[in-house]
Amino acid sequence: MVRSMSYIPMVKLHDGRLLPQVGLGVWQIPDNKLDTVIPTAINNGYRLIDTAFIYENEAGVGRGIKLSEINRENLYVTTKLWNTEHSHENATAAFKSSLATLNLDYIDLYLIHWPVPKINQYVEAWESLIRLRDEGLIRSIGVCNFNIEHIQKLLDKTGVLPAVNQIELHPGFQQPELRQFHADQGIQTQAWSPLGQGTLWNNSTLIALAKKHNKSVAQIILRWHIQLGNMIIPKSISSERQQQNLQIFDFVLDESDMERIKAIHKPDGRIGPDPELFRLPKS
Ligand SMILES: NC(=O)c1ccc[n+]([C@@H]2O[C@H](COP(=O)([O-])OP(=O)(O)OC[C@H]3O[C@@H](n4cnc5c(N)ncnc54)[C@H](OP(=O)(O)O)[C@@H]3O)[C@@H](O)[C@H]2O)c1
Repeated sequence: MVRSMSYIPMVKLHDGRLLPQVGLGVWQIPDNKLDTVIPTAINNGYRLIDTAFIYENEAGVGRGIKLSEINRENLYVTTKLWNTEHSHENATAAFKSSLATLNLDYIDLYLIHWPVPKINQYVEAWESLIRLRDEGLIRSIGVCNFNIEHIQKLLDKTGVLPAVNQIELHPGFQQPELRQFHADQGIQTQAWSPLGQGTLWNNSTLIALAKKHNKSVAQIILRWHIQLGNMIIPKSISSERQQQNLQIFDFVLDESDMERIKAIHKPDGRIGPDPELFRLPKS
């Protein structure tokens, strides 16, 4: 049996719901590996799993959850609406298809994956998410990769702010303006690629802080996120690294440590696509 409690802090969203501050990202984990990766992660204390339709592993997440024998109410599942499905009809069908593939009867957090402003249907997608939430099929609704202008448009057109904006965020790309906007509006920031996808292991500041605190560079980065109040979803297929990524609540970075990490930021430090430009599939 799985432990029913985990020591991961819960964050309160503006809709009143609680979500674990740390979760497991599963992008690029092959579907068939999740039968073991998910039960292992849950045993290690993870209670939030972040997947997406486009990761092609929702079925594996669903199987892994069933195999883990955890009570559904103790687990939080995020999945995402893909870029080609923003119309009312498609968004509703895509959501229901994800729900069936995951073998669940509700989703804790459902996110619009990218705004795709060139298609300009994200308000329609947002209206569909609001409806599905009101029907009880989604607990909390949010977005990924939205900038201030996109979020403002959702608010102007529907009066409903996303509970969460999941954005690229790591010491190499810190998104100070967007994080401030989120704080002002009560939107929870969730960091994707919180470890910078492995691009920060050789950073001399992070190495020095790792030595100072007797922790790994990964733990320094994740602790920095926690102290900023970010939710994080580091991905790891390894049980040892999954555990390491949770061992970040037994030390504190002081103000000067935080300032040193702040200085790593580069305005052009983005690893992933620019949300203003990103649209897939090509058409
Ligand atoms: N909304 C979006 O548009 C979007 C975009 C990208 C990602 N995401 C989400 O964010 C999640 C995390 O981002 P990510 O997967 O891009 O990158 P990440 O979590 O920043 O980094 C993952 C990489 O770091 C390694 N790693 C993990 N923990 C480690 C540790 N303690 N020490 C050394 N290496 C470690 C992993 O390898 P091992 O697996 O071998 O440990 C993997 O290569 C994704 O899985 C996905 O759920 C969302």
